[in-house]
Amino acid sequence: MRYAIVGFGKIGQALAHAFARKNIDVTVASRRPPEALAPQARAIGPTVVAKSLRDALEADTIILAVPFGEHREVAKALPSWKGKTVIDAMNALVPLEKLDGLPSSAFVAKSFTGAKFVKGFNHLLAATLAANPIVEGGHRVVFLSSDDEDAIAPVADLAKQLGFAPIKLGKLNEDGALVHARGRTWGQLIFQDLFKKEQ
Ligand SMILES: NC(=O)c1ccc[n+]([C@@H]2O[C@H](COP(=O)([O-])OP(=O)(O)OC[C@H]3O[C@@H](n4cnc5c(N)ncnc54)[C@H](OP(=O)(O)O)[C@@H]3O)[C@@H](O)[C@H]2O)c1
Repeated sequence: MRYAIVGFGKIGQALAHAFARKNIDVTVASRRPPEALAPQARAIGPTVVAKSLRDALEADTIILAVPFGEHREVAKALPSWKGKTVIDAMNALVPLEKLDGLPSSAFVAKSFTGAKFVKGFNHLLAATLAANPIVEGGHRVVFLSSDDEDAIAPVADLAKQLGFAPIKLGKLNEDGALVHARGRTWGQLIFQDLFKKEQ
């Protein structure tokens, strides 16, 4: 499985730390050229490699860590998202009417036609996400939700490989709403730094 993180700011770098900690290869990209990201990527770890957006999107699994309003620009970079898994780590504090009344991830998913689309890694502050997820005798929890039931399992496997305890919430508009912003209100599980003792 090839992994990429699109967006190399606070959340992109936090996730890069998680990959580096476990020696898992990951490419990182933003609008800037790879040479501009390379020093920071190298500083995080040898398995973190900066590439152009186009090259990074050759990965099978792509984590979106860009500002919400930029997701369409990322989506436009590929003619088809078929065969890709897209993980939405973004939060959208925007009025519901701007999202056609949909949960933000369902709205974003419309731009990534054909992708297996999962919301995850969005509910923790970047500094918490960057820290070792094995803590207090347990594994830090990440919540995963999707309208495509089959899409969650490989993302849950990735979360486990990174040392997190994945919790499947279900569909975006059902239990997945617990990790969504609704207008200017955070879902109840956002910022909840929870641990699972046994897996
Ligand atoms: N910060 C947190 O604690 C936190 C927690 C949970 C979720 N989130 C969510 O994570 C997302 C990223 O937040 P952040 O705090 O990491 O933001 P950030 O520090 O501003 O980083 C955003 C990154 O996205 C890149 N970017 C912007 N537009 C792009 C485009 N069109 N194509 C490719 N790359 C692009 C930027 O780099 P260039 O300018 O070089 O393109 C930058 O590396 C947001 O949706 C936010 O809601 C943040």
